[in-house]
Amino acid sequence: MSNAIETRHLRKLYRRRREPDLLALEDLDLHVREGDIFGFIGPNGAGKSTTIKILIGLVRPTAGEALLFGEPCGTPASRRHLGYLPETAVYHEFMAVGELLDVHARLAGVAPAQRKTRCQEALEIVHLEDRAQTLLRELSKGMRQRFGIAQALIARPPLLVLDEPTSGLDPLAQLDVKNIILRLKGQGITIFFSSHQLTDVELICDQIGILHRGRMLRCGNLRELLEDSAEVEVRFRGGPAQLPGREVLEQGADRVVRLPREESDALVDHLREAGAHLVGLQVARRSLEQAFFEITRTSGEVEER
Ligand SMILES: Nc1ncnc2c1ncn2[C@@H]1O[C@H](COP(=O)(O)OP(=O)(O)OP(=O)(O)O)[C@@H](O)[C@H]1O
Ligand SMILES: [Mg+2]
Repeated sequence: MSNAIETRHLRKLYRRRREPDLLALEDLDLHVREGDIFGFIGPNGAGKSTTIKILIGLVRPTAGEALLFGEPCGTPASRRHLGYLPETAVYHEFMAVGELLDVHARLAGVAPAQRKTRCQEALEIVHLEDRAQTLLRELSKGMRQRFGIAQALIARPPLLVLDEPTSGLDPLAQLDVKNIILRLKGQGITIFFSSHQLTDVELICDQIGILHRGRMLRCGNLRELLEDSAEVEVRFRGGPAQLPGREVLEQGADRVVRLPREESDALVDHLREAGAHLVGLQVARRSLEQAFFEITRTSGEVEER
């Protein structure tokens, strides 16, 4: 399968007037396979929106290369493949939902005969079909977000790039957006989205990239990311009640210690030498959130908050 998104050694240095230049992206290599859902996560200011703006051609990279379906980003040929939801959208507030969606359909080159049906379909997908006459300024925050997804979808692009699609949505609407994304994947559409909702990312993404301070710390499927930061739970009886630098939990007759996998061999040797009886050893299941904290913390670059 070919790649819908490909970046090589992408770098972005923002030149600023009043402050020193800011390195927002450094040596970013992205490979997003056609048909995949890719979740892009990272702390505030990590560079997610900068990457997305480069992909859609709003920001020019300082160095490196970015391609959509083999076409250089920013060219009309690459934009033809693309639907985009910006992080913060500014709309024509005096227009009605149906009217503005029609404008987007025209801009996206939807054939006149299909425009009405496409607009209706898009509004139904985001559950705004009853709001076609509502003015944009009268929409709630979550409704505006859903309108944004409808406009991104209008030309049925093979690639959707969504900058925080669930931001500002209530839990039911978040579930809706997750289901919409899964349904679109079922139609063969590639979806690249940024998010701070790690449980959503965990549930629906084929690939996840963790960006921090402009660098990709990890990229892979959920299993790979969780394995990378896996902990092992060592369960034993007898032997030492305390271990230097480790917390020993008493669970009934058992004692339990959790530690990084690569340190478990040494601990087991030590316990056996100390006369402990080994009861069990298992990889502790972690959530993406725990892995995220672990990976960003051990990157040695995260600032204390
Ligand atoms: N136009 C700009 N000029 C100068 N610096 C910028 C500009 N846009 C973004 N930055 C800086 O680049 C860095 C990355 O910002 P970016 O918006 O890409 O982060 P993000 O990962 O999307 O964060 P968030 O989760 O808060 O949306 C930040 O330090 C930000 O201040
Ligand atoms: Mg952002």
